[in-house]
Amino acid sequence: MFGATGQTGRHFTRLALDVGHRVRAVARTPGKLAIEHDALEVVQGSVTEPLDLDALLAGVDGVVVMLGDVVAQRARLVNTEFVRELVPAMRRSGTRRLLYQAGGLSVAPGKRLMPVLRLVRATIARGYDGQHRDNEAVMRYLSSEADDIAWVAHRAGIGSDGVSKGVLRRSRTWISIGTFVDCAAYNLQLLFDDDAVHSCDGSAYRRGR
Ligand SMILES: NC(=O)c1ccc[n+]([C@@H]2O[C@H](COP(=O)([O-])OP(=O)(O)OC[C@H]3O[C@@H](n4cnc5c(N)ncnc54)[C@H](OP(=O)(O)O)[C@@H]3O)[C@@H](O)[C@H]2O)c1
Repeated sequence: MFGATGQTGRHFTRLALDVGHRVRAVARTPGKLAIEHDALEVVQGSVTEPLDLDALLAGVDGVVVMLGDVVAQRARLVNTEFVRELVPAMRRSGTRRLLYQAGGLSVAPGKRLMPVLRLVRATIARGYDGQHRDNEAVMRYLSSEADDIAWVAHRAGIGSDGVSKGVLRRSRTWISIGTFVDCAAYNLQLLFDDDAVHSCDGSAYRRGR
């Protein structure tokens, strides 16, 4: 688990532990992870520093990447650089599943954003442009160079850290503005959803939109 101290990651970590998974989390500041659980192992580290990925992936079934550093991502494709190291390490360890959380304003490979979303990205969300460019580069890399990994990217739309608004489902055409806890719950089922492998879809509270 990369990003366990983040807004989505902290919910994801708790939910995964609640349903019986064992979680190994890499955190820059382990003290920020306000969860104590027998099945949680926290390893101090940063994805921009050397990490022993072979040791981290030992015994791991699936990798979850919910990383974000808006400032650093303005200057560098931090996540892309990391995922380009992670995927070969997953091949070495035989770890098959990878979930990557991108944003609803990040464009899936070969697609275009709806005009209204392009406008949002260019105006009120322009501070996050570097993050979206990084997310897009990750999705392009996975789509073109990681077919052997059962990866899935979730282009999440998140508006608040409020209470649950319902159950999110995968959607190719619509992205609901969800809550972090709903996105985390959705990500947890997405990680093991064979039908979603190699998709870069959004999620919506209602099917068929
Ligand atoms: N926030 C939103 O409204 C929103 C909406 C839709 C999609 N998304 C997407 O969801 C993803 C995650 O966003 P989020 O808002 O849930 O996360 P977030 O709250 O921004 O947290 C990011 C996480 O990444 C960790 N991190 C950053 N740089 C790191 C590094 N060098 N090494 C190790 N860990 C590092 C942070 O650790 P520290 O605690 O040490 O900082 C934190 O745990 C992003 O791709 C974002 O584009 C976000």
